[in-house]
Amino acid sequence: MKKKRIGILTSGGDCPGLNATIRGVAKACFEMMGDENVEIVGISNGYYGLIHNLCKDMQPADFSGILTQGGTILGTKRQPFKMMTVIGNDNVDKVKNMKETYHKQKLDCLLTLGGNGTHKTSKLLADEGLHVIGLPKTIDNDIYGTDVTFGFHTAVDIATDAIDRLHTTAASHSRILVCEIMGNKTGWLTLNAGIAGGADIILIPEIPYDIEKVCEAVMKRTASGKLFSIIAVAEGVFDQEEALLKKKDRARKREEAGILTATSRIAAQIQAGTGVDTRVCVPGHMLRGGSPSAYDRILATKFGVHAAKLISQEKYGRTVAMVGGKVTSNKLDDVAGLTKFVDPKDQLVLTAKRIGVSFGD
Ligand code: F6P
Repeated sequence: MKKKRIGILTSGGDCPGLNATIRGVAKACFEMMGDENVEIVGISNGYYGLIHNLCKDMQPADFSGILTQGGTILGTKRQPFKMMTVIGNDNVDKVKNMKETYHKQKLDCLLTLGGNGTHKTSKLLADEGLHVIGLPKTIDNDIYGTDVTFGFHTAVDIATDAIDRLHTTAASHSRILVCEIMGNKTGWLTLNAGIAGGADIILIPEIPYDIEKVCEAVMKRTASGKLFSIIAVAEGVFDQEEALLKKKDRARKREEAGILTATSRIAAQIQAGTGVDTRVCVPGHMLRGGSPSAYDRILATKFGVHAAKLISQEKYGRTVAMVGGKVTSNKLDDVAGLTKFVDPKDQLVLTAKRIGVSFGD
């Protein structure tokens, strides 16, 4: 067995399951190839650490006791892809530096645990000749080519719990509670937590809403004696008029109108349109915190083991994925730069509509 020196980094927003995945890869590499044939180099703070050669040799013991730990033992940082090839005021050629670190550290391959932005940089490095393997991390579940990402299910559980708790206070006060849920440009998290938490209205970016329809849905509930409503809103939502605009124009229009977030605007419009007392709740980064769920621990372990298999077979330029219930991998070339959106005709959307959930469309 040829000895392998493996670099590993976590990049972008953290999420539960990063450590479980790191542990899965490491343990499986040691098992498959033998402790004496594996060296693992931890790279701190994502691509920033690769650019600045912030690396440390890790020992098998470093991977014990981290299965349940949230966040990432390696640290992470946002390093926008669009700036990777731009030389800024610091005069650092980031791509050149990353390649230099890879060679200086004598790596045989680099594992990148991250979301969409991370995968774009992984492909860039693979195109530059480095041996890269990606692992799909994000609470947003928006990575193309995989049914699920690790971190997502834990965030669904947390968001569901938040919505559950809003029910009692909303019902007690006969109020509307609008819960803003992360997810970047997609509505996976809101859709799933909205259904699991019994939200009455679910608004996601893939189904632009009409505020009149949202108010109608609230009034319909009021007329039937249900004096409270729970609305799950994805942070990236926009209404049907905004849907016709480019992202840049949408942002400018909102700024001109002094709108801080889509959620705060929705809440104000509902209060004005229905007369029902309305409050906003934003769980925010709580959705990314804490220990991974049992589902994510298992998924992370499966993904980690698959990555180790790819390393032992020297299959690089790929990212691990779950397709139709089976763990597999996709070529970075085929998926990097693509976003997985909710199909408005997705079975889950139709399921919710069939039990009377309004999407404001
Ligand atoms: O991609 C994960 C995510 O939590 C998104 O849902 C959210 O839009 C974004 O990161 C928040 O980023 P930050 O932690 O940099 O504020």
